[in-house]
Amino acid sequence: MFNIFKKNKKELSQDIDLSILNTDIHSHFIPGIDDGSKSMEESIFLLKQMEELGYKKVITTPHVYYDSFLEGIEVLDKKIEELKVNAKFNGIKLQIEVGGEYLLDDDISDRIKNKQIKTFSDNFILIEFPMTNQPMGYEKWLFDLQLAGYNIILAHPERFLYFYEDKKQYLSLKDRGIYFQMNIGSISGYYGNKVKEVAEYLIKENMIDLVGSDCHGQRHIDAIKRTLRSPILKQLIESGKLINNKF
Ligand SMILES: [Fe+2]
Repeated sequence: MFNIFKKNKKELSQDIDLSILNTDIHSHFIPGIDDGSKSMEESIFLLKQMEELGYKKVITTPHVYYDSFLEGIEVLDKKIEELKVNAKFNGIKLQIEVGGEYLLDDDISDRIKNKQIKTFSDNFILIEFPMTNQPMGYEKWLFDLQLAGYNIILAHPERFLYFYEDKKQYLSLKDRGIYFQMNIGSISGYYGNKVKEVAEYLIKENMIDLVGSDCHGQRHIDAIKRTLRSPILKQLIESGKLINNKF
């Protein structure tokens, strides 16, 4: 008899243990500062689930572009302290730090000059490209960042489909020493089948250095939970190639 509850044979029989990662380096947990968490209550609810997933540390990375934080990136120090105090009060033991997710555009040169870049760990910066169009001349901005001593992590390369159309660009970015951070939810199909396909391609090509939650809200935690029986995620996490636990 046809059993609608029959498990997909390709799935693992047990959830993957994410605690091996130790650290998530991409999320939007500071309330009301970008398109991530909207309230302190929501942030606490999400952080609790990150802890339950096995994480010991989160480096949260508010979006930074154009006119964000014109008052100075130092405002993030105050915001992260508020989040830490509230997390502790609510029994959360996660270590919490702050960085930023920088949209790569010509604004980045001024931010380098004015030292308005929030780094984490050993001068690491998380960057993203525009979703729809490849920015002209992005190589120079990457070069300027590296010349200024920043170690660059590219957020979710699998979501920039224009690179997939011209795959040698992925290689070129890797040749420049850029680290690739894949969103775990990409494997679940949350961002669409094409993004899932690109994520699997990058994993197979050994290009992924880090995985991230890119958690803006409950929908992203749910997407992560849907990948916990994915053989390809297990293969990636157990490959020994990921550097999440160095942060
Ligand atoms: Fe993000």
